Amino acid sequence: MAYSRLLLLLIGVISSHLPEVQARPTDFWCNRQARKNMEERIERLKTDMAGCVGADTLPSPVQLPCVSVHTAEWANKTLHQKRAEVVGALQMFRDGVQGARNQTTLDCKTSLLEKLGHHIANYLAIVNRLQIQDSTMTPPHSAVQNCSSRNSTSEVLKQYGNLLKGKLERLAIDLQDGICKVEHRTTNTKGPCS
Ligand SMILES: *[C@@H]1O[C@H](CO)[C@@H](O)[C@H](O)[C@H]1NC(C)=O
Ligand SMILES: *[C@@H]1O[C@H](CO)[C@@H](O)[C@H](O)[C@H]1NC(C)=O
Ligand SMILES: *[C@@H]1O[C@H](CO)[C@@H](O)[C@H](O)[C@H]1NC(C)=O
Ligand SMILES: *[C@@H]1O[C@H](CO)[C@@H](O)[C@H](O)[C@H]1NC(C)=O
Repeated sequence: MAYSRLLLLLIGVISSHLPEVQARPTDFWCNRQARKNMEERIERLKTDMAGCVGADTLPSPVQLPCVSVHTAEWANKTLHQKRAEVVGALQMFRDGVQGARNQTTLDCKTSLLEKLGHHIANYLAIVNRLQIQDSTMTPPHSAVQNCSSRNSTSEVLKQYGNLLKGKLERLAIDLQDGICKVEHRTTNTKGPCS
């Protein structure tokens, strides 16, 4: 397997410097339910939106990354490239949401966009904390390109959900062997991945 050429290191323990991070990295990567729970927090944002008149209209269109996964292309990428792609996509969401938040004056909308920004930052912290050493030394992935632009909050949320269910979930599945083995070696607890 391609994984055998890669050494995965999970850097950093827990969150004391990052109190906003709500999932332990190994829980996150090894436990599908933990990932689902984190993803489902988007639903709360949708509830908040319902109580905020005008929340769906964004002040200007937000540039979004490509979120669909092409299976054959994905399979061709190294873990290093996959991680870079997910990080780049999350950064584009973060910047777009922050730009929209900066142009917003309505309180409930500002709060909604800030919550979404924190949600994205949580994922970025978790994905950034992974360090994948690639023995094949593939060149760094080129910058992530914008793929579409959306002018409504609900559309941005939908695309964001697609990123989490798509590329991020694929990355988690592809990483599990390496990371969950590390977890099993260092603890005696029954691991969430078997
Ligand atoms: C996968 O990589 C090979 C070798 O680099 C290339 O020839 C092929 O076109 C790639 N396939 C896809 C679907 O990107
Ligand atoms: C939004 O505002 C913050 C603080 O003023 C600034 O640091 C950030 O660069 C701005 N982001 C965008 C995308 O305009
Ligand atoms: C990507 O961003 C550039 C620069 O803002 C813009 O000109 C282009 O139309 C965008 N592409 C898509 C597909 O939205
Ligand atoms: C938002 O985008 C839709 C479709 O892309 C377009 O029809 C609509 O006019 C846009 N609304 C605003 C306020 O820009």
